[in-house]
Amino acid sequence: MPLQLKPLHPLFCAQASGIDITQPLSETDLKAINTAMNKYGVLVWRGQPLTAQQQLNFSQSFGPLDIGLKRVFQRKERLEDERLIDISNVDAQGNVAGRDSPKNLSNFANQLWHSDSSFMKPRAAYSMLHALVTPSWGGNTEFADLRAAYDALPQRTRDEIQDLQAEHFALHTRLLLGDDAYTEDQKKAIPPAVWPLSDTHPGSGRKVLFVGVHARQIIGWPVAESRMYLMDLLEHATQRPFVYTHEWEEGDLVIWDNRSTLHRGRRYDIAERRELRRTTINDTPEAQLMAS
Ligand SMILES: [Fe+2]
Repeated sequence: MPLQLKPLHPLFCAQASGIDITQPLSETDLKAINTAMNKYGVLVWRGQPLTAQQQLNFSQSFGPLDIGLKRVFQRKERLEDERLIDISNVDAQGNVAGRDSPKNLSNFANQLWHSDSSFMKPRAAYSMLHALVTPSWGGNTEFADLRAAYDALPQRTRDEIQDLQAEHFALHTRLLLGDDAYTEDQKKAIPPAVWPLSDTHPGSGRKVLFVGVHARQIIGWPVAESRMYLMDLLEHATQRPFVYTHEWEEGDLVIWDNRSTLHRGRRYDIAERRELRRTTINDTPEAQLMAS
């Protein structure tokens, strides 16, 4: 059966079905998913009984996988394959992590609006998140459409940001949350990455307002002025009309394009178990070729 799509929001996001994503993808199906991703930015697949290996296999159809912040933290993880990112509040021993644990600190950082790995070059292209255990309340994920955000900018702002570049830093969110006990080696593990504020999404050719909480400074601007402007732009980009809220059901797989959307997790009771598994495609020339 060919890919079926049902829009979930007036601007972006669709529910996808019709393709068995537990099996190797045909060229035709791969192309159809990439075309849909370029249009919708976020695809939601319900009721997917994916094993970790099947998620890895499916993800690798779209390009090389990345390990993200594991470059910095290098702590013992529950999931053995380093390309599986454990978005959970479960510690390495399999227990719900303590309230002030490093695991929960990462979860709180995920509750700030961001684009995965925008602090690196190459950054992340698609991320894929599979829900295994959901809590009794909260824990939604919200997505914001950065193309709609750009389209809604006043001309004066478009002109102003035209040639501006922002520096994104891996530990900026952690520092914002009061976590500053890092060694010099950890701070240097991922050098800051610079991206244009006024970007073009490679798959759709549409303009993007590329902001997010990893951005800590506009190049060439005073820190305070650039942080205030970045906050203003982020507030603009995440207005309710540009946001889709995903309410997780166990077995959901959600794929999003980090080059055209932002996302954030929402609050839940961290004493309740929540387990999701993420894979992330590195935005390399190889991945771009596979998406073309
Ligand atoms: Fe994320």
